[in-house]
Order: sequence, then structure tokens, then C-alpha cells
Amino acid sequence: MGKPGFSPRGGGFRGGRDGGGGRGGFGRSPGGRGGGRGGFKGGRNVIIEPHRHEGVFIARGKEDALVTLNMVPGEAVYGEKRISVEEGEKKIEYRVWNPFRSKLAAAILGGVDQIYMPPGSKVLYLGAASGTTVSHVSDVVGPEGLVYAVEFSHRSGRDLLNMAKKRTNVIPIIEDARHPHKYRMLVGMVDTVFADVAQPDQARIVALNAQYFLKNGGHFVISIKASCIDSTAQPEAVFASEVKKLQADKLKPQEQITLEPYERDHAVVVGVYRPPPKSKGG
Ligand SMILES: C[S@@+](CC[C@H](N)C(=O)[O-])C[C@H]1O[C@@H](n2cnc3c(N)ncnc32)[C@H](O)[C@@H]1O
Repeated sequence: MGKPGFSPRGGGFRGGRDGGGGRGGFGRSPGGRGGGRGGFKGGRNVIIEPHRHEGVFIARGKEDALVTLNMVPGEAVYGEKRISVEEGEKKIEYRVWNPFRSKLAAAILGGVDQIYMPPGSKVLYLGAASGTTVSHVSDVVGPEGLVYAVEFSHRSGRDLLNMAKKRTNVIPIIEDARHPHKYRMLVGMVDTVFADVAQPDQARIVALNAQYFLKNGGHFVISIKASCIDSTAQPEAVFASEVKKLQADKLKPQEQITLEPYERDHAVVVGVYRPPPKSKGG
């Protein structure tokens, strides 16, 4: 039985896919549970509404899409669609965030309760690859926030470095996330650690980085690919054993969802690091 306050949710995707929604529209309504109100109008009858997660938006048009406010208007990062919107005199631009290419977007569309990356926050991102999702996190945390993006592959790192040249809130770090001491001089304390390294020792990698950089009471968001950890076990058993490893390292899971229909046998686990002890008798 799950501990109170932590219950894995088997099907992160609830409510079924809208009538055969293809890749363009991304299936279900991206509002998750209750998107915000107060939209404004964009080109070709698109209305932009704030999402329940601060810094994330929904473009409502012929097909709804999850979007982020482009930090670098006029530029796409990986060929994603952009939507221009006039807000009074100002023209602003949103970038479509594809859940088939980003596990964080898949988790948001799956209805994850918290991502802990509000505008202005500092995020340590492990497994940045060429920066697809990092670029959206950069939009979400905005100019007052920071994303430290760690990637050990030099090939992907090249794209990451190029992307970061234009995004002043992204600090690219081409290092192995197993050795946080090598980049300790570059990284300050962060509010949230996001991990998508797809490695069998991911829990240990996250714990090590949390010890160096995560505030007490800070949060973690981890994508777990079952087959990377144990390709012979049932995914649910793999997720449960990963959760145990996290708990042993003071990373207390609060929420778990799977990423169907966007990714098979993946889960995202969200939780809190070294939460302050609850006061007794209160
Ligand atoms: C699944 S991909 C990440 C995709 C990315 N998060 C996105 O959404 O665009 C995993 C990445 O983690 C990187 N990686 C794996 N082990 C690593 C480690 N120990 N240190 C740093 N990066 C690592 C891989 O090179 C790969 O680019």
C-alpha cells in the first residue's frame, strides 16, 4: 500500500484521446485540470490561456496545443511551430511544446499536479541532450529564472551550447552528472532538480546532485524509463524500486504518473527533498 500522500497513478492519461487526435493536436485538451482564464487573441483565431502551471500556456485554436512564451521571439529551437500574438501594442510569440518530444510536456498533459518550476525559479536539469525540453523550461522560468543544463555527450552538447548563446538564462554544462563536484563552481543552490538521464543509476545521480545543489525543501522531477533500469522486470515493479531508492536518499516522492500515450513504460516521479520535520502537537 502506498504511503499517505503518495499514490502512484497508473494511467497519467485520463479521459481518453480526443477522436483519434494525431500528433498535431496532441490528443486531449492540454488544460489538464482547469486551465486558467483570461485569454487573448492570436493570429488565425488562436486564443492563448494561462495553464494551471505558472509559466505554461495553452493555445486554443482548431487544435489545442501546449505552448511556452518564447524568450527569443523570431527563433525556433528545434523546428517547432510558433504562434504570434498581439497583446495591445506588443507582439509576442509562443512556441508549441510537443509531448511526443518532451517528457515534461507529456507529464503536464497527463495532469501532473506540480512541476515546481514557476517563473523566477532555478532548475538543475540533468540529461539536457540538445536542449529541446531545456528550451521550454527556459521559457517557463523566464528571464528572472535560471536553468543549469548538464549533458555529457559532446555531440548533443554542441546544440545545447548554441541554444544557450541566445538564451541568457540557460547555463550549459558539458559534464557527467555522476560527478557534480566537477561543476560545483558553476552551479548555485537550486529550487528544483529535473532528471532525464535514462541511466540505470539515475536515482543515485539525482541524490548526489541533490546533496550538492538542492535546497532543503526543494523539489525533484524525474523521468524514469523502465527498460533503462531493468528490461526484464514489469515497469510498475521498476518504478516502485526506484521510488524506494529515492526515499532512502531523503528524496520523498509525492506523486507518480505514467506518460501514456506519449511514451510507453515511462513514469514521472515528483517529490520533495529533506522536507522540514512536521511540528508535533500542532
Ligand atoms: C532521454 S535523453 C534526454 C532528453 C531531454 N531531456 C529532452 O527532453 O530533450 C537522455 C540524455 O541524458 C544524457 N546522459 C546520460 N547519462 C548522463 C550523465 N551521466 N551525465 C550527463 N548526461 C547524461 C544522454 O547523453 C542523453 O542526451
